[in-house]
Amino acid sequence: MSAPRTLLLTGAAGGVGTLMRELLPPYGYELRLLDVAPVPGAPDAIVADLADRAALREAVRGVDAVVHLAGISLEADFEKIMAANIAGTQYLYEAAREEGVRRVVLASSNHAVGFTRRPREGEPPIPVDTPHRPDTFYGLSKCFGEDLAQLYWDLHGVETVSLRIGSCFPEPTSVRMLSIWLSPADCARLLHASLTAEDVAHTVVYGSSANTRAWWDLSTARALGYAPEDDSEVYAEKLIAEKGLPAEGSPDDLYLGGHFCVDPPRWPH
Ligand SMILES: NC(=O)c1ccc[n+]([C@@H]2O[C@H](COP(=O)([O-])OP(=O)(O)OC[C@H]3O[C@@H](n4cnc5c(N)ncnc54)[C@H](O)[C@@H]3O)[C@@H](O)[C@H]2O)c1
Repeated sequence: MSAPRTLLLTGAAGGVGTLMRELLPPYGYELRLLDVAPVPGAPDAIVADLADRAALREAVRGVDAVVHLAGISLEADFEKIMAANIAGTQYLYEAAREEGVRRVVLASSNHAVGFTRRPREGEPPIPVDTPHRPDTFYGLSKCFGEDLAQLYWDLHGVETVSLRIGSCFPEPTSVRMLSIWLSPADCARLLHASLTAEDVAHTVVYGSSANTRAWWDLSTARALGYAPEDDSEVYAEKLIAEKGLPAEGSPDDLYLGGHFCVDPPRWPH
């Protein structure tokens, strides 16, 4: 496929969307924005719910690729997750198929495999083909998204790179994030690689920077041409001094999904 130029960016009003609105255009992309909330400073953004199939069809018409960030990004009632993340993602794929869009980059999450034990020192990193082990309905919806992407590739030839994003914020704010942080600049690098790599079929990658304390295998991301430049280690001393290491046997100590792996999940910040 030739390099995409026009992108539909869903979830453009959100945290990652706001960062990517600044960081993607320098790569040469023209962005069409969509969110259920108005996008500050972007009067042309499409304000639409993922439940609105007609709006989605119009939104994808004529774009070269879709970057799908919209949805509920923490644990919530199953009904809400089902509407936004499960049905909404299927509606978006169907719109893309109908309008002949050949490539989607899908925001999956580490929480699709959140109950996976984090590796201890000397153990191998977690591979992308580790079985799904969602830690929440939220994580479950990301498992669905990855399977949906596989179906749309196998059945309809719509390509996807599913990004199991760790934590994409300007800086890591917890000790767990030292292992899974994706700097905004590396996120843009990863999106660009995912949009321009040839013949991705359905590829699953972990989304993080080149963190010294990484828990997972970045090789499928690197195979797309992703070359991360940041490392959370520069924040390690300060964060560990402030927060301390996770208590032995606590969810943050045991599992990839950390504080999501309890009922109800606990948000540390
Ligand atoms: N930020 C991270 O570190 C992180 C980590 C793992 C995965 N992700 C995933 O990346 C994506 C972006 O994350 P974020 O942190 O920017 O989340 P966010 O909650 O800040 O933004 C999500 C955006 O989606 C929009 N949205 C929600 N429901 C919608 C609907 N039904 N129709 C249209 N728009 C809707 C919201 O208005 C919001 O602007 C999400 O899919 C999230 O699950 C993010």
